[in-house]
Amino acid sequence: MPGSSTITVHADREIHPSRAVAPPIYQTAAFWAEDGETFARGAVEPRGKDFYTRFGNPNHAQAAAVVAELEGTEAAMVTASGMAALTTAVLALVSAGDHVIGQKSAYGGTGSVLLNLLPRLGVSTSVVDQTDPEAFAKALTPRTRLILVETPSNPLLQVTDLRAVAELARAHGVPTLADNTFATPLNSRPADYGIDLVWHSATKYLNGHTDVSAGVIAGPAELLNRIWDVGLLTGATLGPIDAWLLLRGMRTLPLRVPRHNANGLALAQALSGHPAVAKVHYPGLASHPQHKLAASQMSGFGGVLGIEFTGGFETADAFLGKLRYSLRSASLGGVESLAVHPASMWRGMLSEEQIAESVPLGLVRLAAGTEDTADLVADALAAADAVLTMTANA
Ligand SMILES: Cc1ncc(COP(=O)(O)O)c(C=O)c1O
Repeated sequence: MPGSSTITVHADREIHPSRAVAPPIYQTAAFWAEDGETFARGAVEPRGKDFYTRFGNPNHAQAAAVVAELEGTEAAMVTASGMAALTTAVLALVSAGDHVIGQKSAYGGTGSVLLNLLPRLGVSTSVVDQTDPEAFAKALTPRTRLILVETPSNPLLQVTDLRAVAELARAHGVPTLADNTFATPLNSRPADYGIDLVWHSATKYLNGHTDVSAGVIAGPAELLNRIWDVGLLTGATLGPIDAWLLLRGMRTLPLRVPRHNANGLALAQALSGHPAVAKVHYPGLASHPQHKLAASQMSGFGGVLGIEFTGGFETADAFLGKLRYSLRSASLGGVESLAVHPASMWRGMLSEEQIAESVPLGLVRLAAGTEDTADLVADALAAADAVLTMTANA
């Protein structure tokens, strides 16, 4: 089995014939067929690559081949965004009357699917404390058809015991779907621990350059074929140029992730114990309550940390204003550091009460890019010192 750096450079090579070293962009909505039989076959070939771009495109197949090999799964498919990956998978796997289990700490869009969208469609949901594997077992009902996990979670960096959830779900014949956006397959491969399906906001680390909105789902071909069937109807198709940019971004994923990991850890260590900071949430810190579990299923801890300020919302906001290198922005996972106040950002997806239950008001999510570690640490410490002086003078 080749290593991840070889996979990201070569896994797509056989997908479509061309002698171009960089794959061509198949900027076409449709492909022509030589005869009726070939045409008819193309219309039903799951995740095919040359019938109609909503059904599949060579650029989709190339990006998917790299993702599947990185995640260690049989197959993968790409979608127009991370949320398209999630909603397409969920619509394919559950129906009215079914029950879905998710986590209390999860990305706001995932939270909204669980708390707002699915109940509206007649699907009941339970959100559980993912730090307690027993909580998943307690929430199981005879109607449970899907368990959604996200580890580490956005933005509290809580860790889910992937082995425990997978074992429980398999014992009850319930498929599991893990959001692996924060970890990336370089730091953790949920399928290695028995998780059935893995999805990503590929907008983040997989692309890595903040110039594409994309999603991916990886897993067994049989489940992906069912998801692809629904994807034809939701039509959340990734454009060929964006699929090409995703593939181009993934070529350097194994080079970028170690730097994100180093920067995330250095920032978490530097900010822990700063007098303006109440708590740093980062699973790589030995003081993180789930550090041992994290270390058992992750080889690195990623670039994202949660910084909770003693001064609450105002101090968090002032800190964001003082950072020089980390721009105030909703995304993460790119080469540039970005920071955001999650409680403000998620207002479009969750109610005030739902936000209050999942995110502390004084929390900043800082996503370390690939800049020099010393520069990021000096910048964050200077911003923390500045907000401390402001609070003292207030
Ligand atoms: C952990 C996580 N999952 C999923 C998503 C949604 O992905 P997208 O914005 O690509 O739809 C995000 C977006 O921020 C995220 O952070």
